[in-house]
Amino acid sequence: MPLNIQAHQQTLPQFLSTLEPAGTRDWGDISAIVMNASRACKAISLGIAYGALGGVTGDYQAEAGQSINVQGETQKKLDVLSNNMFIHCTESGGQLAGMASEELTLPHQIPAPLKRGRFLLLFDPLDGSSNIDINTSVGTIFSILRCPESHVDGDVSEADFLQEGHAQVGAGYAIYGPSTMLVLALGQDVNGFTLDPRMGEFVLTHPSMRIATETQEFAINASNSRFWEAPISRYVDECLAGKSGARGKDFNMRWIGSLVAETHRILMRGGVFIYPRDTKDLSKPGRLRLLYETNPIGLVVEWAGGRASTGEMPMLQATAKSLHQRIGFVFGSRSEVERIERYHATISAAEPFL
Ligand code: AHG
Ligand code: MN
Ligand code: MN
Repeated sequence: MPLNIQAHQQTLPQFLSTLEPAGTRDWGDISAIVMNASRACKAISLGIAYGALGGVTGDYQAEAGQSINVQGETQKKLDVLSNNMFIHCTESGGQLAGMASEELTLPHQIPAPLKRGRFLLLFDPLDGSSNIDINTSVGTIFSILRCPESHVDGDVSEADFLQEGHAQVGAGYAIYGPSTMLVLALGQDVNGFTLDPRMGEFVLTHPSMRIATETQEFAINASNSRFWEAPISRYVDECLAGKSGARGKDFNMRWIGSLVAETHRILMRGGVFIYPRDTKDLSKPGRLRLLYETNPIGLVVEWAGGRASTGEMPMLQATAKSLHQRIGFVFGSRSEVERIERYHATISAAEPFL
């Protein structure tokens, strides 16, 4: 295959060294965290590419049998390997005060004698992991926060991580698909990099990504329809009615079961993703996790000109009460997300849910 990198195409280190967002303190630390996270994503990508040949598919068997994480979900081997890889690649950089992961019940402390820093890293090491064994796209999601001053140098606590999404100084995801890409929200802008497997470098291929304002494509797990709130049922019914209904146009539907893959599709060609709060299990107010799934994806979406919402309010204003808190998530093309918010405002006022 011909070597295709153009002289003007920046690698990730070149991009980070030329970007110095105005008003961003400690840019050197933030870009070092991003570089270390990108190294973890490269390693995870390599492990995934070997598939069954690498012995990494299937469930994780802890010594005492099967392993269930704090979410109550069976861990895949790659969930555990990706989590360990992410910690290994980022904890020794000296920029982090602590970390939180989907796969860890409690915050991870930076062990002595490693240097501690001023930032918190939150991540879902492998998103969409039920897709691993069927060779379908999965990803990694991460978010960077400042550590409250009082806990810089000491152990971090759960409360340190419970910040609004607006407080994120950066976020991103890697998608392990036909090609591996890294999409970064930094300095109010969203840029996409493709991994060149020959050089092992991420190369800027999708500068300043923008989400189309209008769309005729929606994504929702319709098997949950009997548990939906009235505003969501109304929205989906109208999409399904197509040209003959209130919307007067036909819609297309997609569902991959991988948040990262859905996000990437929406960034590339527009669309709306809906995983709403529902009545399936009242102890879980939504499927996705606020701090390391919906907040980082929300930042990417908002900085790409789309809208990220709980269905009722901006996602980045939602407050977390616990590290692994779940929440309803609606994001994508602005006009559709605003419509769903309007349906919540009108219907909830008329017939309150729950
Ligand atoms: P994870 O693999 O990190 O637990 O996340 C899975 C999430 C997300 O990727 C996807 O959007 C959603 O779960 C899929 O849910 P369904 O199984 O209901 O389709
Ligand atoms: Mn996930
Ligand atoms: Mn995961």
